[in-house]
Amino acid sequence: MQPRPLLAGNWKMNGLAASAGELQKIIAGAPDLKADVLVCPPFTLIARFAEAARHSPVMIGGQDCHAEPFGAHTGDIAAEMLADAGAGAVILGHSERRVDHHETDAEVRAKTRAAWRAGLIAIVCVGESRKERDGGRTQEVVGRQLAGSLPERAEAGRLVIAYEPIWAIGTGLTPTPADIAEVHGFIRRWLATRFPGQGEAVRILYGGSVKPANAKELLTVPGVDGALVGGASLKAEDFLAIGAVYR
Ligand code: PGA
Repeated sequence: MQPRPLLAGNWKMNGLAASAGELQKIIAGAPDLKADVLVCPPFTLIARFAEAARHSPVMIGGQDCHAEPFGAHTGDIAAEMLADAGAGAVILGHSERRVDHHETDAEVRAKTRAAWRAGLIAIVCVGESRKERDGGRTQEVVGRQLAGSLPERAEAGRLVIAYEPIWAIGTGLTPTPADIAEVHGFIRRWLATRFPGQGEAVRILYGGSVKPANAKELLTVPGVDGALVGGASLKAEDFLAIGAVYR
């Protein structure tokens, strides 16, 4: 049985108080979709957005968290703080964090544990670079990221994997449906082997240049349980047009 799809928006470093109108439109459109809807704004908007989405089906999430629950870590945010602000999920190990902030698999694993400690759903991102794909190393790289970034045990309801080929993020380029099916199949087999009884039901999202124009082609690929959308999630109209795949 296919799990209920997840449509997740990653706003990255975009959004001010004035963006609340976009959230309101997403809240208004979400009940029409047969999917869970998640919006991950910057930290500064989480409490405000969580309050606005309180009696709606839209969940609010963070884009990163620190592994420790509190302490002397200037500028960092604990998973407990995200939960306290009203978040229900957090994106971890996004390639922009892995590249810009040199996050390692071990750090992503510690952050995943932190997310669960705080009661959040962890959305763990994996994906290969263009060079790795061209070298035929996609599965090796994704397998290594999964092995290094996930804790020993996992509960299906608390874990989401986002497959995001780095070369597809923000570029307008996407893998073919066949390539996506192959990697999602690989991730599914890996999860089912590693977490028997749970790995079969973990949602596996595709992310990287998902737009209204290609949503149907990409999101109906067998094994794709939803999308992690960057740029196109900033406009409610585009985000909901992508979500229309799940009407
Ligand atoms: P994009 O970003 O949709 O703008 O390509 C996806 C992501 O980084 O999560």
